[in-house]
Formats: sequence, structure tokens, C-alpha cells
Amino acid sequence: MEKSVKIVSKNFNYDNPESLEEYINLGGFKALKKVVRMPKEEIFYTVNVSKLKGRGGAAYPTGRKLEQAAEEKADSKVIVCNADEGEPSTFKDRAILEWAPFKVLEGMIISAYTINANLGYIYIREEYPKLQERMKKAIVLAEKAGFLGENILGREFNLKIKVVSGGGAYVCGEGSALAESIEGKSGRPRMKPPYIKQKGVFGLPTCINNVETLSIIPTLFSGDADDYITSGTVESKGTKFISISGNINKPGVYEIPFGLTLREIVYDIGGGIPNNKEFKFMQLGGASGPIAAEEALDVKYTYEDLKNNGLSIGSGAILVADETNSMVDYIKTVQNFFVHESCGKCTPCREGNKHLSIIIDRFVKGIASEEDYKYINKITNIMKISSFCGLGKSCTSPLMTALKNFKEEFDECIEIIPDSITSEGRKVIV
Ligand SMILES: Cc1cc2nc3c(=O)[nH]c(=O)nc-3n(C[C@H](O)[C@H](O)[C@H](O)COP(=O)(O)O)c2cc1C
Ligand code: SF4
Repeated sequence: MEKSVKIVSKNFNYDNPESLEEYINLGGFKALKKVVRMPKEEIFYTVNVSKLKGRGGAAYPTGRKLEQAAEEKADSKVIVCNADEGEPSTFKDRAILEWAPFKVLEGMIISAYTINANLGYIYIREEYPKLQERMKKAIVLAEKAGFLGENILGREFNLKIKVVSGGGAYVCGEGSALAESIEGKSGRPRMKPPYIKQKGVFGLPTCINNVETLSIIPTLFSGDADDYITSGTVESKGTKFISISGNINKPGVYEIPFGLTLREIVYDIGGGIPNNKEFKFMQLGGASGPIAAEEALDVKYTYEDLKNNGLSIGSGAILVADETNSMVDYIKTVQNFFVHESCGKCTPCREGNKHLSIIIDRFVKGIASEEDYKYINKITNIMKISSFCGLGKSCTSPLMTALKNFKEEFDECIEIIPDSITSEGRKVIV
């Protein structure tokens, strides 16, 4: 099996990504031309057979999502490309937009056609100003060439796409917060139902897809579809863009077939750990993803294998840490991120993250107690069950998996109290 492949990235234009002419010469917009002549059932069938799951983190089947969006009855519908990419250590969407702006646009136009959307937004984080400009230029060129605008390719299909910038908050990647942000409001998640597929941006039915998901769609309707579908495994077909960073010789963005082991990803694709240091742990899927220890290196990178081992793909980020890193210090950094990024709307996440931070601080200072494990369990359980959105529900994963895999490191931070001081005499502030 090839370790790193070029299937979706086959027609990426690294030299002149802003040229529509070159994109077309490389086979671009053929998929759109094919799709507008296909019955809708066949379009859904093609996406469903590919078993494509959303690459933004939630891994929801894309075919089903498009079918549900198509079922919504409305005069106007919205398609959104989620390029918020606020998950630390995730940078694959940036690379895709940089190298293949037209491919993402083509995927968006195909999706819009499929669900009858006439309005589109590309929501790009504030920190990617160059990409905002690139996408704006791509839209203008696509409009001039008749791939956007009125009666696209001679069909009764109109689509206008705008680029919008987020203010840089992680929670704005969450669908309903993103809808609020596009409307110009503060990006905070909405009460559901109604779901955004029913009432999203400006109250219109809205379908939100990740950049990578959209970039895969044209491939499914191209001559490369077979190569794509026969890559990977039975359940996790196709390829995945990963971003590898941390203590790794060859950090970067790679397209890989599903089914490689984590060891192959770290040592063959990432080139191993610098300075002959030992591997210690990796965090998968960004700041809210699980921490994997060395034993996980032989697990295959597929949705099902990772799930069976208590891990997940999330955004596709893989952050590698060598033996010199302290697990406790790392967790403290991750926790600080969540304290900063909790939007404050609900108590479990807003207060829970602050309290966890205080407790982790005690481990960092070596003054933690056995009781702190109980507090951690209690707080994280409450957060998982009762947080208002996915941020609060999932942000406890790094801490809990770090405790599962590296408990002895946390134990070393428990303060040994002389027998002369009773537990009552020791005040614990949570
Ligand atoms: C706190 C939070 C942040 C998220 N950030 C992103 C993001 O930056 N990009 C993204 O595509 N999805 C993000 N998601 C997932 C989206 O809500 C949504 O599931 C996704 O954009 C749907 O596209 P997909 O089906 O193609 O994955 C985030 C979810 C949560 C809860
Ligand atoms: S879980 Fe966190 S980010 Fe989500 S609404 Fe509550 S406070 Fe905001």
C-alpha cells in the first residue's frame, strides 16, 4: 500500500493555484458538468457508496447530510464551507484552500446543485487573510466563466457565493455558532431544535460542510473515483488529509489512504522523531482529541479501528511528542486553551474548564492530592452530560485519556503530606 498518495490532491496546482485556466486544463469542473446532467438519486448514490464521512470532526455521512438538506422545502437554501479551522494543530484545510481553491469551489457548487441551494458562504478564519483573498478571486473568475451566477451551465440553477471572515473563536466552527457569526452576531451556539439544516443562516435551511469534505466531492464524479474508493478499507474508504506537527522530522499536510498504522504515519510519513528521541505520546484530532500512548502505534488509522481503541480521527491533526515532554505540562497548556475558548454561554463548560484548570495547576506545582482525581471525574462527567455544545462535551477527552495512559505521571505530582497534618487541616479549593 502506498504510504502517501495523490488522488484528491492529484490536480492540486502548487505553482499557480489562482489560475482557473490551469484548473480546467487539469480536469477541473468536469465533475460539475457531469453532475448537472445526472438524476439527483444517482448523485446521492455515488456519495453514499463512497462512504464519505464529514472531515470537520463529527464524521457524519456526507451523502445522508446532502439527502436531508435536499428534503428541506424552501425558496432559498444555503451551503456553507466551514474553513474556520480553529482546532490547534489542524492546518490541512489551509493547505487545501491554498493549493486547490477551485476544487473546493467546485465541490461547493456540486453540493449546492444537489440540495438546491442558491446562496453560499465560505467562512474563513480571520488568521487566513491570504486565503480569503484567494477565494474571493476564485469566485470572481468562476462567475465570469459561468460556473457561478444565474443559470449555471444552462440549468435552472443560480448560486451566489460570498467569503466571510470569522473573528478567531474556536467555537465558531460549531455549526449554529458559525451561522450566528455569518449573521454578524457574536458566535455562540444556538438552542436546537430547530437544527441548522432546518433553520440556519438568516433562518434558511443550511448545509455546512468542511473544506476537505467539499474538496473530495469532485473526485467522486471524476475519472479518479475508482482510485479513491478502492483506497483505504471497506468501512473507511478513500483517503484523508492529515496535518502532522510537534516533535516530528517532516511536519506537514499529507493525503494518506485509510488503513496505515499510526506507526507508519509517524515514522514513514512523518519521518520519525528528531534527534533520535523516543516517541512518548500523540494527540489525535486537535486540542479536544484523545491522547494516545506508544501502545497505540500499531492501531490502524481508520474510523473503526481508532474507535475500538478509544481514539478518534477528529479533524485529522496528529501532534507528536517525544520523551522530553511532560504529560502534565502538556495537559495544562491544552486546558488553558479551553478556558480561553469556552464562550461562557453555559455553566458546565465555563466553570468546569476553569475548575479543571485550577486542579491541573496543582498537579503542575506538585501539590495535588488523591481527592483531585475525584473532583476531575465529577467535573468532567458533568461537562460531558450537560454542556450546551460540542466544545464542552468533548474538551475533557485529552485530560481523561492522559490520565488513563499516563496516570503515574500525575501520581508523581501528588503532594506527600506529613502524618502530623490531618486531611481536615489541609484546605482544598476547587
Ligand atoms: C467547538 C467546535 C468547533 C468546530 N470547528 C470546526 C472547524 O473549524 N471546521 C469544521 O469543518 N468543522 C468544525 N466543527 C464541526 C462542525 O460543527 C460541523 O460538524 C462540520 O463543519 C460539518 O462538516 P462535515 O460534515 O463536512 O464535517 C466544530 C465543531 C465544534 C463543536
Ligand atoms: S459548551 Fe462551552 S462553548 Fe459550548 S455553549 Fe457552553 S460555554 Fe459555550
